[in-house]
Amino acid sequence: MKNLIDIKRLTKEEIDTIITRAAEFKTASQDPARGEINYTGGISDFARLGERLYRANSCANKTACLMFFENSTRTKCSFLIAADKLGMNVIDFNAQTSSLSKGETLKDTLDNLYYMGVNTIVLRHGEDDITDKISKEVTLPLAFINAGDGQNAHPTQALLDYMTLLEKLGTVERKKIVIVGDVSHSRVAKSNLALLNKMGADVHFFAPEYFTPKNKGEYAAIWETDYDTAISDADVIMLLRIQTERLNGEESEMAKHYSEKYCLTSERLAKYAPDAILMHPGPVNRGVEMSSELLDSPKGRTILEQVRNGVYVRMAVLEGVKG
Ligand code: CP
Repeated sequence: MKNLIDIKRLTKEEIDTIITRAAEFKTASQDPARGEINYTGGISDFARLGERLYRANSCANKTACLMFFENSTRTKCSFLIAADKLGMNVIDFNAQTSSLSKGETLKDTLDNLYYMGVNTIVLRHGEDDITDKISKEVTLPLAFINAGDGQNAHPTQALLDYMTLLEKLGTVERKKIVIVGDVSHSRVAKSNLALLNKMGADVHFFAPEYFTPKNKGEYAAIWETDYDTAISDADVIMLLRIQTERLNGEESEMAKHYSEKYCLTSERLAKYAPDAILMHPGPVNRGVEMSSELLDSPKGRTILEQVRNGVYVRMAVLEGVKG
């Protein structure tokens, strides 16, 4: 894998390889003394397994540069932790205090970073397709990882969601996975759709009219017209964040009423989809996509499990890209 730009470019086998490696890292990272995994060997055996897996990674002493032009907690911090666990050097690039502010182009910046010894660029940006475009402009052998580009793609989010689903369900094949909320602004929805379709899931979408993309026919999914019918008997409900920072004036006005009709509560979940796995990419708008009590209930715990899996998926991706 040269770069990770978009799920659409990965084969099923490449996705499986990333998840398998992420699971190895997870097994090696978890401390059996904290009861996080069901490991029956002794502590010293476990430590040796961890050491072997970590030493086997090929990116120790390589350098990753995290370039986040949009805010982030989960993605940025988990890439930082992942790189650190792999023994990589990490640069937390600050665009505002960099020479981009003097008019230097992104391409020239990247060329200079390569000559300082940077191997991998992790890029989050507000512009659709920028990771793809800049990876083609830069001719030096840098590896690029898309950490979210505009409303286009968020491949590592889809991979960590898939890892979480495999842990819970074993497979996503023929599972009813319902993606709900602000679909029109969501790169998470697009990357998850691409991955889940590849893996044989039955993907449904529900969005109010003001969050339904104009090109909804291009989404290879079943579009539902009623929230409660959509979530009925779902195996998985994936709520999307209302992306207030991307809404125009009219959408903002409409979004103020979103929670009145579509806020998921424990009661609603118990009525329509009591066995569903509840997911959300975060950050959650409490009381908007779901109630605070649901988020804080055992059902909400999967959302933090997604976040934890993000570390291991990002370790596998950092190790896997070759530039
Ligand atoms: N899910 C996600 O991308 O969260 P952050 O914006 O906090 O990275």
